[in-house]
Amino acid sequence: MKRVTVPAVRARKGGEPLVMLTAYTVRTAQLLDPHCDMLLVGDSLGQVIYGLPSTLPVSLEMMAAHGAAVVRGSHHALVVIDMPFGSYERSPEQAFDSAARLLKETGAAAVKLEGGVAMAPTVAFLSARGIPVMGHVGLTPQAVNQLGGHRVQGRGDAAAARVTADARSIAEAGAFALVIEGVVEPLARTLTGEVACPTIGIGASAACDGQVLVAEDMLGLFERTPRFVRRYGRMAEEIGEAAAAYAADVRSRAFPGEAEIYPAGD
Ligand code: KIV
Ligand code: NA
Repeated sequence: MKRVTVPAVRARKGGEPLVMLTAYTVRTAQLLDPHCDMLLVGDSLGQVIYGLPSTLPVSLEMMAAHGAAVVRGSHHALVVIDMPFGSYERSPEQAFDSAARLLKETGAAAVKLEGGVAMAPTVAFLSARGIPVMGHVGLTPQAVNQLGGHRVQGRGDAAAARVTADARSIAEAGAFALVIEGVVEPLARTLTGEVACPTIGIGASAACDGQVLVAEDMLGLFERTPRFVRRYGRMAEEIGEAAAAYAADVRSRAFPGEAEIYPAGD
């Protein structure tokens, strides 16, 4: 099966909603790939698999290692890799070097970076040099210190105008798609109607051109459950039940059984 391409994603503006989930590891990528248009190697892996307090400490090396695993575990979905904090903000040149490294070391087709008006020249610089960029506006977790927490964005006229300027500038700079995170619903809906590229919502609006969730949240594996998460699985319970059953079998010597040991033979 041929992989979903960047132009194919772009062409889905106003059409059938785009399905996107995060993936950080090969097995998760294999299982999600047939169902998704895009897999996001999100820097949320900092919290979800490394137990870090935020996405800020995530390194380019971590993103490259997990990105390569997700590319190896998929053959259908377009793989998008998050640019980690500190790897792209200083200049378009810095962003190009980091993005090129991610694409070269992983085989992924696109990167995602956070930010609005200030990052628009960088989005244009990368897009003009063969690196497709997905934007990310609204609640941008790498700016948690600036935003003062994970709060919904775009409430009130001034805040709405800020998010609108951010979304427009990133779309006009040539982003092939735009994540809108943690934005009041009517604004996310309006922005979707205004920008030329597909919008991917998370805590945004059903009117967005697609949706993304952290897979571990959707699967019921991670403990944090923001308002915008819908749980489709009960993996935390399943893992706990399986570990409890294994522990009981080991303690009662019910495991290993006849089928799980090697007879001497000759
Ligand atoms: O890192 C991440 O998982 C993300 C999405 C949830 C949009 O950026
Ligand atoms: Na992210």
